[in-house]
Amino acid sequence: MKYVIGIDLGTSAVKVLLVDQKGSVCQEVSKSYPLIHKQSGYSEQDPSEWVEKTAEALTELVKNFDGDVTAIEGISFSGQMHGLVLLDENHKVLRNAILWNDTRTTKQCKDIYETAGEKRLLEITKNPALEGFTLPKILWVKEHERDIFEKASVFLLPKDYLRFAMTGAIHSEYSDAAGTLLLNVSKKAWSDELCQLFGIDIRLCPPLVASHEFVGTITSAFAKRTGLSETTKVFAGGADNACGAIGSGILSQGKTLCSIGTSGVILSYEESGDRDFQGKVHYFNHGEENAYYTMGVTLSAGYSLSWFKDVFAANEDYVSLLDGVERVPAGSNGLMFTPYLVGERTPHADSVIRGSFIGMDASHTKKDFVRAVLEGITFSLHESIHIFRENGKKIDTIVSIGGGAKNEAWLQMQADIFDAKIVKLANEQGPSIGAAMLAAVGTGWFASLKECADVFVKEAKTIEPVKENVEKYRELFMVYQLVYRSTQELNEKLQSFRN
Ligand code: XUL
Repeated sequence: MKYVIGIDLGTSAVKVLLVDQKGSVCQEVSKSYPLIHKQSGYSEQDPSEWVEKTAEALTELVKNFDGDVTAIEGISFSGQMHGLVLLDENHKVLRNAILWNDTRTTKQCKDIYETAGEKRLLEITKNPALEGFTLPKILWVKEHERDIFEKASVFLLPKDYLRFAMTGAIHSEYSDAAGTLLLNVSKKAWSDELCQLFGIDIRLCPPLVASHEFVGTITSAFAKRTGLSETTKVFAGGADNACGAIGSGILSQGKTLCSIGTSGVILSYEESGDRDFQGKVHYFNHGEENAYYTMGVTLSAGYSLSWFKDVFAANEDYVSLLDGVERVPAGSNGLMFTPYLVGERTPHADSVIRGSFIGMDASHTKKDFVRAVLEGITFSLHESIHIFRENGKKIDTIVSIGGGAKNEAWLQMQADIFDAKIVKLANEQGPSIGAAMLAAVGTGWFASLKECADVFVKEAKTIEPVKENVEKYRELFMVYQLVYRSTQELNEKLQSFRN
C-alpha cells in the first residue's frame, strides 16, 4: 500500500493525516500552538512554532507507522489564509506572522480604496479591501515598522512558509495568493499595477504554482528530524477553504459547502473567474486548476459557541451543552443572537460591530441561549446564501462539514434556515483530507481531483428541510437582518470602553 500525508496548518493547531490509496485515514496527529494577542485587535503567531509542531506531529506519525517510510510518497498542505510572514534576504523570519483574524489595519484598508479606487481594486482582485487580507498588513508594516519592511525580500503565507521550512523552496500558489489582494485573480498573476501603486517591489511576491504542482522533496535535515524519507515529494497545497472544498467534493458547478470551524464559511464552486458579485462575497481561485469559488465568511462561527461554553458553561462538555436544543422551538422562544464577537465580514465588513442577545425574557433558560447561539451563527451564514441566490445562483443542496455537522439538531437547523438539503459526509476530515488529495493527484495516483474525490469522498446522509420551520425562519431572518443596523451606532459609541 502507498500513502500520502495531508498537513492542515490551522489557527489553533496543525493536523497531519496519513491517508492510503483508498482514501482511508490511517493516522491523525494534532499539535496546538498559541495565538499572541499583544493588544486588542492584534493576532499574531510565531512561524517557528508552526514548523516545530508540524515536525513533532510528523515524528509521532512516522514512529507509529509500521511500513516502509518510502511508501509515504507525497505531502501537501492546507493553510490558514491571509497571514503575513516576512523574510529577509537570508530567508530569516523578520517578525511574528500577522494573522487573518488581526484587525489592526482599518486605516490601511481605507488607504487602499483611496489609492487604487474601489472599482479598479475589484476589477483586479475580485475582492474588497478587508482588514484580514495580506496587502493591508504589508502596508501596516511599511507604515509602522519601516526598518522591517525595508529588510524584507519576500513575503509568504503561513503554509507556504511551513513548506519552505520543509523543502527550502520558496513558492506561493493561486488559491492562497488570491487572498492577498495583490493577485489578479482571473489572470492568475501578481498585479504589477497594484504593487506599483502601493510602493511594493513585485519581487516581494513569491513565484506562483498550481496547488497540485510538485515543488521539491523534503530537505535531508527535515527527513532526519522526522524519520520521513528524503524521497518524499512535496506538492504546493491550497488555502484551507479551497482544501475544505476539495475534501468535500465541491468540484463542479452547483456544489456548495457550509464549513463551521472557528470561523464559518459558505463556499460555492465557480467555473470561471469573470462573474461579478460586486465584492459582496470573496471570489478566489480554487485548488482545482483553472477553477474558482465564491465565499462568504462569518468570523465567529464555532468561536461563538466555544465563547458561550467557556463563559457560561465552563464545566460542561459540548455534548451536554447541546443536549436538548432540539426540544427548544425554532426561534428560541423569542431570543436572538448575532455572532459579531470579533466584528464581521459577510455581508457587513465591520471590525467595530459586536454581538448581541435580543429579546431576553425571564422565562429563558440556558437551552434557549444555546439554541439562539446556534441559530445566530446559522443566520449569519445564511446571509451569504442569500447573496448567492440574489445573484442568480441556484443553491438547493449544501455539504455541511466541521463543528456544525457534528450535531443532528444543528444540521436540521441548517436545512431549515438555508431552505436546502444538507449532506453529511461519511468520514469528514475537513481541509487536511483536501491537502492529502492534492498530494494524491500530484503523485499521479489519480488524473484529477474529481477522480480522487470519487474514491475519497463518501456521503453518509441527507437532511431535508421541514416546511413549517422554513416559514418560521424566513420571518426570523428578516428580524435578524435588522439587528445589525439597529446596533451599529450603539457599538460605535461603546468602542472606546473596550479594552
Ligand atoms: C478566509 C479566512 C478564514 C481563514 C481561517 O477568508 O479568513 O477562513 O482562512 O483559517
